[in-house]
Amino acid sequence: MTKAFPAIMTQGIDEPCRFEGEVFDLEVVEGSVPVELDGLLVQAVPDQTFPPELQNLHLMTVAAGGDGSVRAFRIKEGHVDFRTRYVRTERFLLERAARRSLFGNYRDPFSDDPSVAGKSRTTANTALFYHGGKLLSAKEDGHAYEIDPGSLDTIGAWTANGAITSKTFTAHPKIDPKTGQLFGFGYAARGETTRDIAYYVFDASGALEHEAWFEAPVSAMIHDCAVTENFMIFPVMPITSDLERLRAGGPHFVYDAEMPQYFGVVPRLGRSDEIRWFKAPPGFTGHTVNAREEGGKILFDLLEANGNGFAPVVADRDGKSPPPGTVRNALVRWTIDFHANSDELTEAHRQVLTQVNGEGAHIDPRNEMREYRHMFVPTLDPAKLTTDVNGRPVPVMFNQLSHFDLVEGRREDWYPGPEATFQDPVFVPRGPGAAEGDGYLIALLNRPLERRSELVILESLNLPAGPVARLSLPLRMRLGIHSTWIDGAFAPEWF
Ligand SMILES: [Fe+2]
Repeated sequence: MTKAFPAIMTQGIDEPCRFEGEVFDLEVVEGSVPVELDGLLVQAVPDQTFPPELQNLHLMTVAAGGDGSVRAFRIKEGHVDFRTRYVRTERFLLERAARRSLFGNYRDPFSDDPSVAGKSRTTANTALFYHGGKLLSAKEDGHAYEIDPGSLDTIGAWTANGAITSKTFTAHPKIDPKTGQLFGFGYAARGETTRDIAYYVFDASGALEHEAWFEAPVSAMIHDCAVTENFMIFPVMPITSDLERLRAGGPHFVYDAEMPQYFGVVPRLGRSDEIRWFKAPPGFTGHTVNAREEGGKILFDLLEANGNGFAPVVADRDGKSPPPGTVRNALVRWTIDFHANSDELTEAHRQVLTQVNGEGAHIDPRNEMREYRHMFVPTLDPAKLTTDVNGRPVPVMFNQLSHFDLVEGRREDWYPGPEATFQDPVFVPRGPGAAEGDGYLIALLNRPLERRSELVILESLNLPAGPVARLSLPLRMRLGIHSTWIDGAFAPEWF
C-alpha cells in the first residue's frame, strides 16, 4: 500500500485494523466462562482495506463503507478462541489485485474507477445470519456472501441457487423460531435508488418458498423488517435516495424530516397486489424490536428517534445535522389493523413503551414474532460522558448495557465505568428449557483511550452484578456493526 489513510479514518481505536488471524484460548482475566455456553459469536465489521481515492469523501463512506470482515469467537467448555477474516467479495478481490481502492463513495457507482463498472459494489459488512445450514454475511446494497463458520473462508455470493434475482438482499432478515422459515427482502431491488422491493420467503432448508415484488411509495432506506405470525412489515425510513443527486456527486442518502413513516404490510405469503402502505406522522424509524398479533391487530415494536438518528453520517437536505447528543429514542408500539378502512395511522395508533436512548435491541430469539417480555440494548447515559486529558470528548457510543422488563416496567443497567463503549451484544439463552430472557449477554467492550478491547459475559437478568467473565484481547477491536449468536449445534469445532 503506497498511500496513507486520510486523517478522518485514523481516529484512535477505530482506525482501520486490516488484520486477519486467530488467537487460541483467550485470556480470562476475571471470573470464568460459563461451561454451558457453546456456540459462535459472529460480528460484521467494516474495515477499509485501502485508503479511498476520492476528492469528496462522504461521512457515510467513512462510517459504513469499509470492507466486510467477519469477527468470530468460538465459545465452548469454558474457553474462547478468536478468528477474524475478510469477506472475499468481488470488490475486495478486485481491489486486492490492484493494491488500491477502486470503489468510491458509499452506494455511489458514479464515483468508482471506470475499470470496475458493473462489478458488485457490496462489502457484506453489516450483519450475519445463519439459515439452512449456511452462514451469510450481508450488506443491504448487494447479495450476501456465504462464509465457512469454521475457517471463515468465503464460499461465494449467495443467491439461493439463482432464486434471488433482486440486486440486493437485506442484512436483517427474520427467522421464525417455530417454522424455521426465513423472511427477507431486497430494496432498490432493480438498482440503486429504484423503488422496487423483492420479497422472499425460504423454507427451513433454505429453498425458496415464496416471492413477490412491490413498489415502495418513495425511494428510501428499508434497513430492517418485522414479521408476525401472519404478516410481513416493511418500515420505510425517512432517509431518501435520489439518482440525480447521486449523479451530481451528492450523498446517496439524506434525512427528510417531513417524510411520513410508511409501513408496508403484506400477508406472509402475500401477492404483489395485497400489500398495504400505512402512513404515519414523521418519525425516525430505527431498528425493529419485534412484532406480533393480538386481537386481530398487529403490534409492531421498534426503536423510534425524535430526529435524525443517523446524524452526522447522514445529513438533511441542507447538509445540516443536529448537535451531538440531542437525538433520543424510545421503544414505540404501533398498532396496525391490516383490514382497517383507512391507511392513515395517527398518534392514537402509537404508544411509547419506554425511553431507551440506545440502538440494536435484542430479544430472546425463541420469542421472535410472539409475545415477549425482555429486551436487551446497549444504551447511552449522556450524564456519564467524560473528556480526555486535553478536554476532548471521549468517543463513546453506548456506555451501558441495559435490560428492559416490559411486563414489570423495570430497567437494569450495567455501567462499566468511564471511557468505555459497548459494541453490539448478543443474547444467549441459558439452555433449551430456560425461561424467556434467562441466559447471558456477551459483548465487546472498547476502551478507546487505551486502544484496547475486552470481551465481557454477563448474566442477562442480573446486569448490575457486572460480568461473570472478562477476557482480555491482545488487539483492538474497531467498531463493528451487528453481532449474531449461532448455537453450538450448528457451529463446527475449530481446533
Ligand atoms: Fe442494522
